[in-house]
Amino acid sequence: MGFSKLFIFLFTTLLPVALKHPIEQKMGIFREYIGAQFTNVTFTDVPINPHVEFHYILAFAIDYTTSSPPDPTDGKFDVFWDTDNCSPSEVSLVKNQHSNVKVALSLGGDSVNGVSCYFSPSSVYSWVSNAVSSLTNIIQEYNLDGIDIDYEHFRADPETFAECIGKLITTLKTNGVIRFASIAPFDHSEVQSYYLALWKSYGHMIDYVNFQFYAYGEGTSVSQFMKYFETQRSNYKGGNILASFTTEGSGGLSPENGFFMACNRLKSEGKLHGIFVWCADNSKALGFRYENESQALLAAPHLHSTA
Ligand SMILES: *[C@@H]1O[C@H](CO)[C@@H](O)[C@H](O)[C@H]1NC(C)=O
Ligand SMILES: *[C@@H]1O[C@H](CO)[C@@H](O)[C@H](O)[C@H]1NC(C)=O
Repeated sequence: MGFSKLFIFLFTTLLPVALKHPIEQKMGIFREYIGAQFTNVTFTDVPINPHVEFHYILAFAIDYTTSSPPDPTDGKFDVFWDTDNCSPSEVSLVKNQHSNVKVALSLGGDSVNGVSCYFSPSSVYSWVSNAVSSLTNIIQEYNLDGIDIDYEHFRADPETFAECIGKLITTLKTNGVIRFASIAPFDHSEVQSYYLALWKSYGHMIDYVNFQFYAYGEGTSVSQFMKYFETQRSNYKGGNILASFTTEGSGGLSPENGFFMACNRLKSEGKLHGIFVWCADNSKALGFRYENESQALLAAPHLHSTA
């Protein structure tokens, strides 16, 4: 084949292929919990970089009564976040102003009105049907896009948890109520047994793993963090694992001790799907400087390498 024929061959056969498969620069995802601590933080307080996919996660919706003491309701969820500042109209406003913003709610959390919050269904059937109807109402009222699963205490076995949560996510997705779901496990053998059972049966329905790396010990080093990240990549195989830090207290690898160095390493290895922060309520006092840094890191162009 002569030069011009080769050129025509390349042009006519390879160019269309290249156009059909543009080199995809996947947007990094930045997520932040908000509304759990009633510090009057608002969506507009948090800086939003237009070059990331940005998720607020409302914390929390809980299947407990709002009475004192609170009682479990078998999947009938109520809203426990700061609704004065994180209201349906504020959700609409921030989504209308920023096309890269989505808003989710998180289920459970550590405690409800000062006592431990337990996952305690009566049966898979009753819990799922109550959860689907109560959450559908809340999600539609607030115009939300996804859910996050953050139960940390359990009065059921791992298989029941897996079936309840798996069926909930599947039904909400099938009904077009949500577009994405995440889970928020941490390094604790009992807790992991629940989330790993869920991952085993329903991992294909879970879009992000918000692993709570800040639940590791205070003073975690960069090399320890890198090791922990690999451990969780192998636990949640094939999952989109997000790196994380806290602005409440001092667990895990902090921004001061090299969190962003670790993230840059993960990014250069093609392993960083995103970053999430617990939580906006506490970051307000820090002027959201680490939120800025996280999003700048995710938005910076990089040569993609596969891992
Ligand atoms: C939040 O705002 C309300 C109403 O303005 C005020 O009463 C309350 O003290 C504020 N709370 C905090 C923690 O700033
Ligand atoms: C965060 O970034 C925004 C936009 O670049 C800037 O206006 C703001 O001052 C930054 N805040 C901090 C605390 O760095």
